[in-house]
Amino acid sequence: MNRFAVLTSGGDAPGMNAAIRGVVRTGLARGARVFGVMHGFDGLQFGEIDELTSAHVGGIISRGGTILRSARSISFKTVEGRERAAAELRNREIEGLIVIGGDGSLTGGMVLGEEQGFAVMGVPASIDNDIPHTDFSIGFQTAVDTALDAIDKVRDTAYSHDRVFVIEVMGRRNGFIAVEAGLAGGAEAILIPELPFSLPETCDKLAAGESRGKKSSIIIVAEGAARASEVCDFITKRSGSEARYLVLGHMQRGGSPCAFDRVLATRLGSNAVSKLLQGARNEMVGVQGTKIVCTPLSTVLSSDRQIDTERLKLAEVMAQ
Ligand code: F6P
Repeated sequence: MNRFAVLTSGGDAPGMNAAIRGVVRTGLARGARVFGVMHGFDGLQFGEIDELTSAHVGGIISRGGTILRSARSISFKTVEGRERAAAELRNREIEGLIVIGGDGSLTGGMVLGEEQGFAVMGVPASIDNDIPHTDFSIGFQTAVDTALDAIDKVRDTAYSHDRVFVIEVMGRRNGFIAVEAGLAGGAEAILIPELPFSLPETCDKLAAGESRGKKSSIIIVAEGAARASEVCDFITKRSGSEARYLVLGHMQRGGSPCAFDRVLATRLGSNAVSKLLQGARNEMVGVQGTKIVCTPLSTVLSSDRQIDTERLKLAEVMAQ
């Protein structure tokens, strides 16, 4: 194989650009021709494909977002959409595709590979860090740092005013950001979608803290667990404490990637190309410990990544 394409898809994540750079420069170093697809699987169906040179990826390692843009494609979920996409690739004699994205994007890549007979390699990139068979997805660490920066600032004002703050972080289906940022930020409570929680019990915990002399508290809530505004209302009504809330939202997806994400993305992007050129098909590159590992996409996508309950228990002990 000497012609392959790369695309970014789904929710963007800091470090996607570093991964694109890793893909392009490794491909060129191996004598391949590399093509960039704009707007993910949407652009793929409509031929938004251009050849990339080393200069195209110059100066992007530090930039958030994705120079290839991203999309959540509805039409690619249909056979007709995937046939159109495959035809666009075949017309350009492109034999392989590297998909940088989260579980939905990796699923799209896997189906294209299996159904249309393409060599697809996945690179996990999602601030949610919910992809199994890799310790980290590109963007998670930066998103946690962004959330933590906000938590630290809010704690200053919470302390000054003896207030309870409820901070909502991203995580539609999981609480990885909430647990990590909550533990690092010394949160008094962390609410996530994976585990049942009780707001009256949360209020009791805050009251217990108050009786020990704690005048301000931070509650981290993953967006999939509850709305920060509702948690805030509940606390105000039940305990009478002065509470405020903050929704961090999409700012967690932006910003310059931290060193960890830049290195991770460079390694994963580069290894995806090496494996593709060695003949790997329909696999995902990931990191386990210090090693880069490859796992079939079908295996990756047939399980869920589990939350580390030890971290949650530790956060509870630390909140006392
Ligand atoms: O990228 C994943 C994620 O950040 C989720 O945690 C969040 O719910 C979702 O994206 C929102 O994305 P969008 O607004 O682009 O649909």
